[in-house]
Amino acid sequence: MTESSDIRLKRMPLNNGSGHIPALGFGTLIPDAAETITATRDALEAGFRHFDGAERYRNEREVGEALQAGMAVGGIAREDIFVTTKLWNTNHRPERVEPAFEASLDRLRIKYLDLYLIHTPFAFQPGDEQDPRDQNGNVIYDKGVTLLDTWRALESLVDRGRCRAIGLSDITLNDLLPIYESARIKPAVVQVESHPYLPETELLEFCKKKGVVLLAFAPLGHGMKPGLLEDPVISAIAARVGKTPAQVLLAWAVQRGTALLTTPRTAARARENFDISALPEDALNEINRIETRQRLNPVVTTGVPGFIARVS
Ligand SMILES: NC(=O)c1ccc[n+]([C@@H]2O[C@H](COP(=O)([O-])OP(=O)(O)OC[C@H]3O[C@@H](n4cnc5c(N)ncnc54)[C@H](OP(=O)(O)O)[C@@H]3O)[C@@H](O)[C@H]2O)c1
Repeated sequence: MTESSDIRLKRMPLNNGSGHIPALGFGTLIPDAAETITATRDALEAGFRHFDGAERYRNEREVGEALQAGMAVGGIAREDIFVTTKLWNTNHRPERVEPAFEASLDRLRIKYLDLYLIHTPFAFQPGDEQDPRDQNGNVIYDKGVTLLDTWRALESLVDRGRCRAIGLSDITLNDLLPIYESARIKPAVVQVESHPYLPETELLEFCKKKGVVLLAFAPLGHGMKPGLLEDPVISAIAARVGKTPAQVLLAWAVQRGTALLTTPRTAARARENFDISALPEDALNEINRIETRQRLNPVVTTGVPGFIARVS
């Protein structure tokens, strides 16, 4: 099989010419530290070369440890993997961006980042408390900084060669447009929830036109049941093509032109989720015709993570 026909190896060009992002990505939003290490190593061993983290996941150290160990064992070079992490909402003030970035790099034990994302467009009260709340339990937002201020600080990280590309996450097309227009360095990637119940078609069309990669999170519907993994259209296609429902959903995401992040937590699932192959046109069309609409993660409306449990 050639690289171009093997969708497992698909790489998408970044619009600033800094390289390519592997379409198939592994997400590290895993609450347990030990499980983060085993799952990250299993993913690397299964063939994943794109790893997505965030300071908010509080496990960059474990991700870094797993990557270093797995790369040493597998003879994999730093240049062969693509590493992303994200700036948290409490670090939007320009003077906080570089320290937050350097701290992430330090925890990940790498010298440069392939991609740095603004985790959400919502600035929270700056400080060490990642989830600042008032007495009534409401999030304390920071009105003293704009998204463009933060973007400018990310641009200067690229200028100084500290990261190769920058982008945004949990943003709507409406909020993306003004940043895209004002940006000196255009966003290379936009990471949002996307799956057949939330195809984000308009955003995807904009991204394709501008050469921005849409990076889909929750491509399996976050594994929720009932949900996409049990959808009758997906199950029927899986039976017909001899693949699992998860493999069908991941193939659809890659073939429609997005990159994706999936989070298998066992070695068997890492191999399953990497072992995808192209679906026939009629199967893609059937999935495109699914009419159910469901957003699973409300982070895009508040900046509060929907898949991370609150500690206090
Ligand atoms: N930017 C953001 O705000 C944001 C928000 C959410 C996520 N993300 C990123 O996106 C990544 C992926 O998100 P996600 O966790 O929602 O992805 P997902 O792959 O859609 O869902 C993961 C869930 O699916 C289950 N699963 C995985 N492989 C499976 C398979 N082959 N068969 C059946 N079930 C399977 C897992 O179950 P088990 O737990 O039972 O293994 C896990 O609970 C995250 O790790 C993170 O990096 C970003």
